[in-house]
Amino acid sequence: MNSEISKTLLSDEILISAPVNEPERQHYFIEKLKEYFTSSNNKKKACVATFGCQMNARDSEKLTGILTDIGFDEGDKEETADFVIFNTCTIRENANEHLYGRLGRLKQSKKNNPDMIIAVCGCMMQETDEVEKLRIKYPYVDIIFGTHNLYTFPELIFTLLRKRFGSVDSINDNGKELIASSADDVIKYEKLLRYGSHGKDIEKLYRKPVVSVWKDNSDIVEDLPSKRKYSFKQGINIMFGCDNFCSYCIVPYVRGREKSRAPEEIYEEIRKAAADGVKEIMLLGQNVNSYKGGIGFPELLINVDKLAAETGIERVRFMTSHPKDLSDSLIEAMASCSRVCHQFHLPLQSGSDPVLKRMNRHYDKETFLMRAEKLRAAMPDISLSTDIIVGFPGETEEDFLETLDVVKKVRFDSAYTFIYSKREGTPAAKYTDQIDEETVKNRFDRLLEVQNAIVAENLNKLVGQTFPVLFESVSEYDDQLISGKLESGTTVHVPGDESIIGAVRNVMLTECRGFYFTGEIID
Ligand code: SAH
Ligand code: SF4
Ligand code: F3S
Repeated sequence: MNSEISKTLLSDEILISAPVNEPERQHYFIEKLKEYFTSSNNKKKACVATFGCQMNARDSEKLTGILTDIGFDEGDKEETADFVIFNTCTIRENANEHLYGRLGRLKQSKKNNPDMIIAVCGCMMQETDEVEKLRIKYPYVDIIFGTHNLYTFPELIFTLLRKRFGSVDSINDNGKELIASSADDVIKYEKLLRYGSHGKDIEKLYRKPVVSVWKDNSDIVEDLPSKRKYSFKQGINIMFGCDNFCSYCIVPYVRGREKSRAPEEIYEEIRKAAADGVKEIMLLGQNVNSYKGGIGFPELLINVDKLAAETGIERVRFMTSHPKDLSDSLIEAMASCSRVCHQFHLPLQSGSDPVLKRMNRHYDKETFLMRAEKLRAAMPDISLSTDIIVGFPGETEEDFLETLDVVKKVRFDSAYTFIYSKREGTPAAKYTDQIDEETVKNRFDRLLEVQNAIVAENLNKLVGQTFPVLFESVSEYDDQLISGKLESGTTVHVPGDESIIGAVRNVMLTECRGFYFTGEIID
């Protein structure tokens, strides 16, 4: 480590000179960090591990962008990386457990390489109990932050370095209400210094992480770095947060209230992506139908479609759309677009009216069926996917049969099926009529059986036909095969070489193997 640089990092001047406004403030810290991390000859490796949904995946691209800008290369192995970030999800219990397993495995790596930096961020960190658990059980975690202040990541790394070199700054949290912070640790540390104590206590405090978790944030900070995971496709946030409060769901508590990005910001990001050769974009929001950027979602979609055609983007997708807000004007807009994929994710959750009511979903079975039918009438080739929860508290056999009935009637092209997971803090966690494991498992298996048979029938009908495929990567299982996606999202493997990655080609589907196809390029 270069002692000149560490001295500079410790100077008060460096903090006083930092701009107050965002994103300039973070760009300033990025520059300072770059000086530090690029001062040694061997390039350091960073690994960003993402759990959860497309929003988290997009957030991880922003974190990777920041790490790349300050001088890290992307490395794929957590154990040997110099910087590891876990971008967490807390949608179901098993998402949380996943993090603990991965963190546990890093304990030894951190011992071998004490300079290693481990950061944990994302939805799970918006829960105070989880932050406390990390502080106590995983003291080798260095930085903890939440979903609302992702953009302050450079400042948090900077604070960590100052802490490691002996400074005791508290974090500038912009006057935001916090649910967890390291300010308490700083106060304790200062007291120890003032009143004297054993070196050991001080050392212990030093090992405490830099913590900054905000309760909420109404600002959207634009123009920070980001680095795409795939060269040819990108998620584009159109809104953040969720106001729907479905009774089982933790998202509104960990992602905050809905806020929409200005259309111009969205268009600008799309133009930049297109200029970089991106062929597919996915507009992201927990409920895109309630986009409120001065225009509504149907109009935004039409404008994005035009922009895609002008800039050479082949495919536009969006997710997620809440059935309660699926308007005729969105269906019309979608059908009129040329680049918007005929694929729609319409989460059912349950087919039973009483369950839907207790889930706070604001639609009933009939309305759902009608909307699915309207989508199919407007776009007969549309592919419909859904999410279903089995074993919601109080779900009876009769309720479950209603769900199966919708599944059989709509014949979804794909379904993500989940066993209900109790999330503390949500209204459904207080429901006393939780369903026993065996019943849930039995229903889950029956649902899968019905749905899998439908998928197989739907897919087999397509064999022998030719469709455009956007090629994405070399197949995980066979490096002679290149994998791509149909407009519907179904995977196709064809013999070929890497040169077609990022291109759209017509492919004849030769065989259906479970949930994917093999095919041959026609032209
Ligand atoms: N905003 C999206 C969903 C985000 S969460 C929407 O409304 O569709 C993705 C899916 O996780 C949900 O659709 C739901 O099916 C599932 N899910 C959410 N909370 C859950 C819980 N507590 N237990 C089981 N599945 C859950
Ligand atoms: Fe969760 Fe419902 Fe919001 Fe989707 S719409 S994120 S399921 S609260
Ligand atoms: Fe998980 Fe957060 Fe997405 S809880 S599903 S990563 S919004």
